[in-house]
Amino acid sequence: MADLSTTFTGVTLRNPFLLSSAPPTESESNILRAFEAGWGGVVTKTIGLHPVVNVLGPKTKFLRADADSAQLSMKKRPGAALHSSWNWELISDKTLEWWAPRIRRIKEAFPNKVLIASIMAGSGNDKELKHWQELAETAQGEGADGLELNFSCPHMDRRDMGSNIGKDQGLCSVVTEAVKAVAKVPVWTKLTPATADIVVEAAACFRGGADAIVSSNTFPSIPLIDPETLEFEINVDGLVSSGGLGGPAILPLSLAKMSQLTKAFPDKSFSGIGGVSDFNQAASYFLLGCGTVQVCTAAMLDQAVGPNVIKKLLAGLDRFLEEHAKDGWKNIEDFRGIRRDRIVLQSEIRRPDSADYHSGYENVEGYAPVQPETAVRV
Ligand SMILES: Cc1cc2nc3c(=O)[nH]c(=O)nc-3n(C[C@H](O)[C@H](O)[C@H](O)COP(=O)(O)O)c2cc1C
Repeated sequence: MADLSTTFTGVTLRNPFLLSSAPPTESESNILRAFEAGWGGVVTKTIGLHPVVNVLGPKTKFLRADADSAQLSMKKRPGAALHSSWNWELISDKTLEWWAPRIRRIKEAFPNKVLIASIMAGSGNDKELKHWQELAETAQGEGADGLELNFSCPHMDRRDMGSNIGKDQGLCSVVTEAVKAVAKVPVWTKLTPATADIVVEAAACFRGGADAIVSSNTFPSIPLIDPETLEFEINVDGLVSSGGLGGPAILPLSLAKMSQLTKAFPDKSFSGIGGVSDFNQAASYFLLGCGTVQVCTAAMLDQAVGPNVIKKLLAGLDRFLEEHAKDGWKNIEDFRGIRRDRIVLQSEIRRPDSADYHSGYENVEGYAPVQPETAVRV
């Protein structure tokens, strides 16, 4: 077997595949099963200081597409293919006190597997920033190998939490800096894709000292309305709020965000998430420059922790390295980022007659056409 190991932000992983922060990582038993199944690392379900109460009824459902019609629905039916997951689940309903001894036990059972603690608090005042520090110090004190700051949960009402932090470059840098002030382990920040220019918030995280950026969390979305019942396909008392879309549907969207990040910061570390279920999708993230890849939806649908998903990811990476042994590739570092520079401005793409194209501007006689470098960044 090829060398699948990698070192990411100073942490050595046996393979570059992690379960992302979500239901597959919500309990000690799930995380132990995930490590037994072969995942190189696990990011815990996001841990907060205060107990959380979720909505009544299902917190996640899966949207499926028919091959022979335009129907897209959460209704279970034969032959339909997975389109996406939709969730309005909050962070872990277990508190830090519940998680602390479990982090220790998990690390004792699997000292060579990587356990990252995802954490979240408010950010409105100094007391809240101390909450981040308390979460960070406890998790690393119990043995967590790293911290992932959740700046991306799409369903927080509070203006100073979750994706509302990830939409505010000031908060991104202040919270990262507060955690870095106490962190002895690498700090990753997980950003929301729901922002005009993710490069701005990533830059702020790096200014605060972030060791890596993780992207994407789920995309803000609502469930579809059933045309027969006129009810949202998932609702409580007929009501719904904005939730998050994950799974295959977000793969191209998430890759677009990731390409913006890796192009803007080619020397920084990135962990890619969104729509990965086998190596074919993971390859795109590596080729754009990611050092690790995380998985949620595909694992949820595979015995809760993805034993077959990780098998396919490992076999796929092994096969890929074997096929490219002729190119001298021995591990992911040998091909990481080699397609990053293929994403360019529209004006840089060859057309049948370039003389006729003026980057969308009127061709004014006597003036030079607009040069690509004066156009906006993609
Ligand atoms: C039910 C559910 C719960 C989630 N909870 C969290 C969470 O607590 N913290 C977090 O950072 N991301 C959370 N996520 C986002 C996932 O970690 C992941 O970023 C997203 O689902 C995209 O990956 P996927 O396409 O593989 O599902 C959750 C996703 C789902 C579907």
